[in-house]
Amino acid sequence: MRIVLAPMEGVVDHLMRDMLTRIGGFDLCVTEFVRVVDMKLPRRVFYRLCPELGQGGKTPSGVPVKIQLLGQDPNWLAENALKAVELGSPGVDLNFGCPAKMVNKNKGGAVLLKETDTLYQIVKTVRAAVPAAFPVTAKIRLGFDDTSLTLDNARALYEAGATELTVHARTKADGYRPPAYWPWIEKIRAVVPINVIANGEIWTPADAALCQQQSGSADIMLGRGALARPSLAKEIVAARSGTAEQAMPWPEVLELLLQYSDYEIAGDKGLYYSNRIKQWFSYLKLQYPEADMLFSELRLQRKAEEIVRTLQQALRQLN
Ligand SMILES: Cc1cc2nc3c(=O)[nH]c(=O)nc-3n(C[C@H](O)[C@H](O)[C@H](O)COP(=O)(O)O)c2cc1C
Repeated sequence: MRIVLAPMEGVVDHLMRDMLTRIGGFDLCVTEFVRVVDMKLPRRVFYRLCPELGQGGKTPSGVPVKIQLLGQDPNWLAENALKAVELGSPGVDLNFGCPAKMVNKNKGGAVLLKETDTLYQIVKTVRAAVPAAFPVTAKIRLGFDDTSLTLDNARALYEAGATELTVHARTKADGYRPPAYWPWIEKIRAVVPINVIANGEIWTPADAALCQQQSGSADIMLGRGALARPSLAKEIVAARSGTAEQAMPWPEVLELLLQYSDYEIAGDKGLYYSNRIKQWFSYLKLQYPEADMLFSELRLQRKAEEIVRTLQQALRQLN
């Protein structure tokens, strides 16, 4: 079993990857997508989204971080994929799942699931450009409007040379509405002989076990669940080896939030801090009632110092 930390634009940056991989359980991370349009991007663009390139392509706790690209032009994607691995990414992931309107309008992300041939061309061209030792993987949804092309798309990606697929088991039209259709992953696995990572709606160790059972995939990717419950990956690993581990207690989560605050304020000069911490809270609220209560206090606070003070106060009240 491998557990992958999902790419999440605007939420899972290098600081979040560092925090979550320190807690443990993750085997691989994927960056937020690097948007490729019509040029070879400068090194600084890759480093901004993946500063880990400066540390051998790994988080400080040693978990590899793979760069994800999003775009529609096979040649520009290929050039940038090659650049990513030359800079130290341990492979490249291609995003065919993003539902954002702007991205789809420019023919990137999930809209390409309507064009099996384009998927094929992209992966074929990228595969040809990237040395064989580096995996070229694809992240897909089940389809755009429906599942009529799911299996054709999976076959095309495999035939074009994709090393591995990650399947977010919903269509673009499904958005993020539960459920994720894990049994569909098993259907995909039946038509392609490559590894398939199962993704979508894993919030607890029990969800992970059910997803693995219904999809037939040992490998899973965790997105929102890992933000809602920072110890989720570690708990899943423990459950797999037969030892139950409790979710991280709230006081420890608060300490983590304060640690993240230190990092984020220093790392990005506090520019995005208040948005990012609030976004993290929107997930924590799903698992921790204490986060819900605290969020009602934080919601209107804008300044980093104000938010940090509120977090410190909450921690003091517990001690
Ligand atoms: C805020 C947000 C940002 C996301 N950004 C990306 C992205 O950059 N690349 C990508 O392939 N998927 C992205 N996703 C999709 C996730 O990687 C994942 O497939 C999805 O959230 C389902 O998994 P989950 O139910 O475990 O969250 C994003 C999802 C969210 C909620």
